[in-house]
Amino acid sequence: MANEKVRIRRDIASMSAYTPTTSLDVFAERLGIAAADLIKLDANENPYGPSPRVVEALAQLPNMHVYPDPESGRLRELLAEYTSLPAEQILCGAGADELIELILQLFIEPGDTIINTPPTFAMYSFNAPIYHAEVVDVYRRADFSIDVSAIQEAVARHNAKLVFLCSPNNPSGDVIAPDDINALLDLPTTVVVDEAYVEFARGESLASWMADCPNLIVLRTLSKWAGLAGLRIGYGIFPRLLMPHLWKIKQPYNINLAADLAAQESLKDVDYLLERVRQLVEQRTRMEVAFAELPYLSPYPSQSNFVLNRVSGMSAEDFRDRLARAGIIVRYYNKPRLFDHIRISAGAGDQVDRLLEVLRHF
Ligand SMILES: Cc1ncc(COP(=O)(O)O)c(C=O)c1O
Repeated sequence: MANEKVRIRRDIASMSAYTPTTSLDVFAERLGIAAADLIKLDANENPYGPSPRVVEALAQLPNMHVYPDPESGRLRELLAEYTSLPAEQILCGAGADELIELILQLFIEPGDTIINTPPTFAMYSFNAPIYHAEVVDVYRRADFSIDVSAIQEAVARHNAKLVFLCSPNNPSGDVIAPDDINALLDLPTTVVVDEAYVEFARGESLASWMADCPNLIVLRTLSKWAGLAGLRIGYGIFPRLLMPHLWKIKQPYNINLAADLAAQESLKDVDYLLERVRQLVEQRTRMEVAFAELPYLSPYPSQSNFVLNRVSGMSAEDFRDRLARAGIIVRYYNKPRLFDHIRISAGAGDQVDRLLEVLRHF
């Protein structure tokens, strides 16, 4: 209700809310199914969970009464080893999500433009207006590849400050061709490549390009491959030039003690976690093959831990609801280009068994 003493921003007052996924407990209550019986395949989480080293370390987490290291020094050293890049170019965030916001804060002055390439991860365009950025959508082609010449044109026309790219793309699962990214790096703009799912892909991370690219930012997370989505820990690899400014604007204690330690322990157990990644890729491939055999699903090839499908013969919303009644939660998008699509995350072997069993009886 309007109140002359409480004057919040009018653009936020009229903005529509983002609908995020929620916890197993909340889904359990909504669906009237015990949390233990639910199969959650809607948010690309890692069904195997974290490394056992994380669980052990967190059970004895020391010094919870003391603020954490604002520089996440030890963690950044381990990330430097993992990425083969200098710790000085790495900044941690409470999930990659926080770093998307931080980048917008750093670059955007009111009215500046960012380029978004939908269908893609929603957070770039969702956060942009909060930081007064204008979003120019350059839609992907029918096969979900990016339209490089349209992006080049849009950057020039709007003098865009940032181009947000997601590779592998969420929700389509495809990787952007290196030549396409190279062409965009020639533009007078900064290119942010979100590699949240890169551990599941065949290609190389663009992190190895950092040394030669003063206008490339790479975002990564431990939510997916390391199974730490609930602890909120991600990182960005930034050009050296940006680092002093990012340090100025970052919340000092954005990484809580538990997330910091969990990420460190994960990075000491990379082989174990990458074996889990390999298993998830196996399940994803199994899902792609099985979905293609169903008359009502057309899967797109994925290099990530999820499969996007076009649904025919019923609405995608009905499809989601029928699966939910069977205790399986998947992602439906009420969005252009995706109204008849469903994204299903790769589950553990027994979860995929059950999913396929239910689908065969549809
Ligand atoms: C492409 C992409 N980037 C970033 C994120 C968010 O990552 P984080 O959990 O580190 O905030 C997600 C989460 O689903 C994602 O799909």
